[in-house]
Amino acid sequence: MTNADFASIGIETSDEWIVERTGIKERRIAQAGDSTCSMAADAARKAMARAGVQSGELDAIVLSTASPDRLLPSTAVDLQATLGASRAAAFDLSAACSGWLYGMTVAEGMISSGVIETALVVGSEKMSAIIDWQDRSTCVLFGDGAGAVILQRNKNKERTGILSTFVRSDGTLANLLYRPEGGASVPFSAAVLEDRTHFVKMAGREVFKHAVRSMSEAADRALDGAKLTGTEIDLLIPHQANLRIIEATAKHASISMDKVYVNVDRYGNTSSASIPIALDEVIEKKIVGPGSTVMMVAFGAGFTWASMIVRL
Ligand code: ACO
Repeated sequence: MTNADFASIGIETSDEWIVERTGIKERRIAQAGDSTCSMAADAARKAMARAGVQSGELDAIVLSTASPDRLLPSTAVDLQATLGASRAAAFDLSAACSGWLYGMTVAEGMISSGVIETALVVGSEKMSAIIDWQDRSTCVLFGDGAGAVILQRNKNKERTGILSTFVRSDGTLANLLYRPEGGASVPFSAAVLEDRTHFVKMAGREVFKHAVRSMSEAADRALDGAKLTGTEIDLLIPHQANLRIIEATAKHASISMDKVYVNVDRYGNTSSASIPIALDEVIEKKIVGPGSTVMMVAFGAGFTWASMIVRL
């Protein structure tokens, strides 16, 4: 869906407004038959094929999503059934746009504590189902998609794999980006539907300020944890919310924009799917390869923020 396509659904906006403020030119929108689970399954199968892992070898499925297919049970168990991953423990993880990095951190912990050997960590989002298509301040920002990684114990003695992780939240700021009603505190009703309070609401300017500050902090903490400086990072993959936030984060970390991967122009903000989608693209395009040091930084509703440095 291009920026020009909003005219056809009666949204008063322009390509110029959207590109100037966000860098977004187009986004992918799931078709009627697509679900958070079906997109996750597509991504998972590609990740398993690339890693040479069969679904029966998965010990855990960690699915990060802010747009689950149903409220109960988790979308992860639907994914488990779809993949036939009969040995796996499957669960959803809710940390909004930072969720995939949170999921990687949880899976790393499960592996290093000896609970599991092989995890599938997926970010899958059907944001088009939870945004208000009558609210031009939010509907132009988001897109649908999924990305996945297979995570296993690093048997390589060299300094590769996950070098550092950082996760943080501030729930006092929850109401700056949220879905006010339709959950357990104000259950779904005709009034909720009429007031449209089950859709995403966002205080854009406030979110912007916090995103820049938190992503900068997350970048610092990841570098400290790995004992690296920005100049030693081969590629920064930031959460793809907004080009201006990405540029501010890169500048803070002293990483030049030619070492920053950007695809927000093509996909918009796919929430927790954005980093694994970008990771897939940079591996496919051979922008990174064995030995590359990659820093990933995210920020999302909650607020939550997180970072991770990996060496491939
Ligand atoms: N097209 C045209 N005009 C618009 C649109 C639109 N799509 N949306 C809002 N406007 C108008 C507003 O109505 C307002 O008009 P007014 O001044 O007449 O009232 C004007 O544009 C300015 O609105 P602001 O909200 O102040 O615009 P701002 O410059 O702050 O840009 C934006 C808005 C792009 C949302 C910006 O605040 C932003 O990028 N925030 C961060 C959002 C974000 O990235 N969120 C996700 C991060 S966390 C996560 O990924 C879950």
